[in-house]
Amino acid sequence: MEHQSKIKPKQEAFAKTASKMNRLVLTPVGYPLKAGDDSSPYLSTDDPSLFQHYARSQWIGLVVEKGNFLFDSLLFPDYAFRAITVEPKNSQITKNTQIFLYSEQKVDPANKVSQQHTTFAEIVGQQNAKEKCQIISKFLSNKELMKSHWAPKNILFWGPPGNGKTMMAKALSHNIKSSIFLIKASDLLGVYVGDGARKIKNLYAEARRSAPAVIFIDELDSIALKRNYQSIRGDVVELVSTLLGEMDGIDTNQGIITVGSTNQPKILDSAILSRFEDLIEFKDPNHFERREILDLYANLSPIPFIEISWDLIVQQTAHWSGRDLKEKIIKSAIHYAVLYDRTRITMKELNDSLLKANIFNENLTYYS
Ligand SMILES: Nc1ncnc2c1ncn2[C@@H]1O[C@H](COP(=O)(O)OP(=O)(O)OP(=O)(O)O)[C@@H](O)[C@H]1O
Ligand SMILES: [Mg+2]
Repeated sequence: MEHQSKIKPKQEAFAKTASKMNRLVLTPVGYPLKAGDDSSPYLSTDDPSLFQHYARSQWIGLVVEKGNFLFDSLLFPDYAFRAITVEPKNSQITKNTQIFLYSEQKVDPANKVSQQHTTFAEIVGQQNAKEKCQIISKFLSNKELMKSHWAPKNILFWGPPGNGKTMMAKALSHNIKSSIFLIKASDLLGVYVGDGARKIKNLYAEARRSAPAVIFIDELDSIALKRNYQSIRGDVVELVSTLLGEMDGIDTNQGIITVGSTNQPKILDSAILSRFEDLIEFKDPNHFERREILDLYANLSPIPFIEISWDLIVQQTAHWSGRDLKEKIIKSAIHYAVLYDRTRITMKELNDSLLKANIFNENLTYYS
């Protein structure tokens, strides 16, 4: 990785001979460091010409070649962009250089009612969340109760990745007859200022039309950031205040229940966080639950698992999520068996999966 400071000494020499740059396209890469527990917030722009001025004022005079990292020292700790197009090659940024931001963001009209086929019975553990979903189902099926002040309104699912938050929302959608809107928060972000707020308003208007209804906003932290991160995206302030308004509701009994989901409640805007009447934690599975999850997915395998000491696997997978157990142990062993045309999966394949997963986890700790 070539750091901007490393290319600096070359700059003066290059700058004299370099041709003037016509066009530069940058893509956001992320922070080189993590601030406390917080992860890199999502970055994009709503106003390409404003971004162009901003970028030129920082990097004017710099000679850039494709693949270089440009560090934005106005954001702490120095947000990185990668130059993905430089025209002409190895040229110098001037006041006339056209600079664009290319950001792979999914823009999807999120207002879709989804019907999913996951059931509560397939989710191991997470008893509190299951009870909360039962409460929601009961209120939804009783109009009088749903109109009362006691109906659930805003609930937050939180906890480490891969422990069934999204799965629970899908199971809820399968279990209720009312409409459920399953939305990824990042799909609520728009390209232009005002898009995101409009999408939120449309979403809630649509939900009110089909009330009683549930709105499940997955990965809420990608939009409802704390105030100190909101300035990074111009429209996040607007998004957060629109969402706050909708979560409050003009009528208390408008028949909408909002369920949010996040790995990181700590980075959520405190006003949004305070709107949630209940915070439901999704914990890593305990010893017995890990055994149950392994059994569940091993039984769904097309290749039988034979003479497995499951307890040995369970002992070695403390703090693993449901997703890790399914993907890194069961799926990985099935792939190994398929590769070598095995008709059964034994302890050998499982130990190999475990070893591979442990190396992967170690690397993950190293790089994160
Ligand atoms: N408690 C569980 N019981 C059975 N399967 C589970 C459980 N937890 C996770 N899984 C498996 O892991 C997959 C991923 O879980 P899910 O997407 O619901 O996690 P999540 O909590 O939403 O994670 P993230 O925070 O990363 O979005 C599920 O589709 C399921 O196959
Ligand atoms: Mg999820």
